Amino acid sequence: MGSSTRTLKIGIIGFGTFAQFLAKTMIKQGHLIRATSRSDYSGFPSVHFFRDMEEFMGLEHDVILICTSIVSVSQVVKSIPFHRLKKPLLFADVLSVKEHPRKLLLQEAPQDSDLVCTHPMFGPESGKDGWKDLPFMYERVRVKDEALCSSFLAIFENEGCKMLEMSCEEHDRLAAQSQFLTHTIGRVLSEMEIRNTPIDTKGFEKLVQVKESSTRDSFDLYSGLFIHNRFAKQQLHNLESALERVKETLEARMNNN
Ligand SMILES: NC(=O)c1ccc[n+]([C@@H]2O[C@H](COP(=O)([O-])OP(=O)(O)OC[C@H]3O[C@@H](n4cnc5c(N)ncnc54)[C@H](OP(=O)(O)O)[C@@H]3O)[C@@H](O)[C@H]2O)c1
Repeated sequence: MGSSTRTLKIGIIGFGTFAQFLAKTMIKQGHLIRATSRSDYSGFPSVHFFRDMEEFMGLEHDVILICTSIVSVSQVVKSIPFHRLKKPLLFADVLSVKEHPRKLLLQEAPQDSDLVCTHPMFGPESGKDGWKDLPFMYERVRVKDEALCSSFLAIFENEGCKMLEMSCEEHDRLAAQSQFLTHTIGRVLSEMEIRNTPIDTKGFEKLVQVKESSTRDSFDLYSGLFIHNRFAKQQLHNLESALERVKETLEARMNNN
């Protein structure tokens, strides 16, 4: 069996919506999934769920995957009983901001463990029919066991994801002007309570979709995109001033008529 098809023991910390979505594909690929979370998910099929973090950390893992919300990750990672680990392993995360968990894991995870920071650029809705051609960003932050890290990344590669290796800083810069902006526009459209009409143009249909997909994610997720991405504030400012300029252009035209 090649390294890219190796069966992994993956321990997931934070077993909410997104972790459950990932776990289904990992299980389909034959990996062994154990999970722990603040809430009780012990009924989830084919996953060994542990309410007790000490017990969970004492299991033999190849990978510990952090899937908690952005706004809770600092508190969650700082409360992990790392001393319970049986051997060096790979820590990975899937948070939608990247500099923040990178710094945190470099500070908190044991020095002899490996570290890969990732962001699957899709979710339960956009990835419901498979992950083919969907972007998957990652940075190998600290990797000694190349085979283990490759086996973990192969989970996404084997599903046909578009694998994009880049720094966490570059990710955050780009995500502020793409993902954060999309979510912000979606939240604004939601505040405006836009709805489909009988005379929708294709463009408007897309706006309603943006509103719906943005508000489907938790507010924790959205606020995390702002609070823990140092490039987001500038994008919010750019959006405000662009709206102001568009308004001024319209008003100037009206006054000239
Ligand atoms: N949804 C997506 O499409 C998507 C895509 C890519 C990456 N991500 C990332 O994946 C992670 C999970 O996203 P999500 O969509 O499942 O929703 P989320 O609201 O961002 O996170 C929910 C998760 O955080 C845990 N959590 C929240 N507050 C906590 C606290 N105070 N203490 C301990 N745990 C806490 C929840 O645990 P309990 O459920 O046990 O309460 C749950 O596991 C996030 O970091 C997000 O940025 C999400």
